[in-house]
Amino acid sequence: MGWKHIVAAANCLSLAAAHPSPVIERRDFIGSVVSGLGADATNVAKVASAFLDGVEATVPTATISTFPQATSALTNVFTKGRNFLDTIPSLIEAGFDPNDIPSIIEGYSPADNSINNIDPPPNKKIYPESSPSDPAYSLPESTLLGSIHIPNTFTYGTKPPVILFPGTGVPGGITFAYTYARLLAKLPYADPLWLNIPDSSLNDAQLTAEHAAYAINYIASLTSHNVTIITFSQGSLNLQWALTFFPSTRPLTNQLIALSPDYHGTVNAALICPTFPNLGCTPSVLQQFPSSNFISTLFAHGGASAYIPTTSIRSATDQIVQPQTGPNPSGVLQDERNVGVTNYLVQEVCPASPAGTLVTHEGILYNSIAYALTLDALQHGRPAQLSRVEDLGKICAEIVAEGMSLADLVATEGSFAVFFGNFLAYTPRTSVEPKVMGYAV
Ligand SMILES: *[C@@H]1O[C@H](CO)[C@@H](O)[C@H](O)[C@H]1NC(C)=O
Repeated sequence: MGWKHIVAAANCLSLAAAHPSPVIERRDFIGSVVSGLGADATNVAKVASAFLDGVEATVPTATISTFPQATSALTNVFTKGRNFLDTIPSLIEAGFDPNDIPSIIEGYSPADNSINNIDPPPNKKIYPESSPSDPAYSLPESTLLGSIHIPNTFTYGTKPPVILFPGTGVPGGITFAYTYARLLAKLPYADPLWLNIPDSSLNDAQLTAEHAAYAINYIASLTSHNVTIITFSQGSLNLQWALTFFPSTRPLTNQLIALSPDYHGTVNAALICPTFPNLGCTPSVLQQFPSSNFISTLFAHGGASAYIPTTSIRSATDQIVQPQTGPNPSGVLQDERNVGVTNYLVQEVCPASPAGTLVTHEGILYNSIAYALTLDALQHGRPAQLSRVEDLGKICAEIVAEGMSLADLVATEGSFAVFFGNFLAYTPRTSVEPKVMGYAV
């Protein structure tokens, strides 16, 4: 029982009933990594085995006890090696240990990461299609409904609903439950819930988009309110696909807040799925290459521009999504339909400040200015305006958002190792993108 347990927790604890052994045996783990890789298998087995040995032999040599220490440790880890296989052991060594996530996260519960949630049945017919304007869902309704996690803070329409939609490799519970969900639940103007996508969104992004389309229709009808949606990373692409091809979602969604989005994919997908060593890839990582059919299809149908009022928040030092600066930043959404879009780069908003220095991909989830902009958008029901944010100097001087702690930072950074473990464990490996669905051809 080691780090693989927490990795397994992300995908498997919630499936414990279906898969009686939640702890992945080491040989099975490697076996699953190398399966389906043909001629490269020997090499992959070596790489995977070296990776696991490295991770298992890694013990934290430091404990993170101050914010400056956390920042300097992250800087070391992410500026030293660009190879993610090397990054994970360094991350753990520096004290960002995924094994600590349950103990750090007060009240950590496998149920928070479940893909088999028991929810009230929809109170109107939203399946097999949610509206005549939409294609039929390809996933079973039980799968779509089961991914929606409604916490016990939910008011079912007394407060305005906010859907939290996760990214690649980490379920919604680990991503949001103890940061955004915990804090937003205390506010009078937000009522958070989240999704846990099967295979942690590593499978076909078009299927993950169906979860977004269904959840918007379901929560809007359940609460008799239009919804707000907060997306992280790939979740932003999944939502954009849903808004593009499932138009029922547009009038039901008041606004979007996109955290570390990758609308143009990421050039670093090639580091996650390198051709050497060839670890193979997963469908949704292939779809997040900048040149993917998924992204070109999305853009060919108008998906490079917002459909609903949008706030996008990104970091120049994102170790996963690049480029986030320059002429064509991945996280920037255009506004050809004039719905209202604000795009923020944390380093521009808080120059040379703790909140605007090294901010990792997942760091946006605890970043103090990202959270302040999110609150501004939620409070006003429209895209965040920096000019409305009070005490900007004070906010920029903090690394984590008010109400979040150093432990939240450590747990969130530890989730990067969870992502990588889930990525390696995903099967079948593939080097070919899923086919574009018939409705989008
Ligand atoms: C949702 O928004 C649409 C406009 O986009 C509006 O017509 C409708 O009344 C809103 N519904 C609710 C319940 O507020």
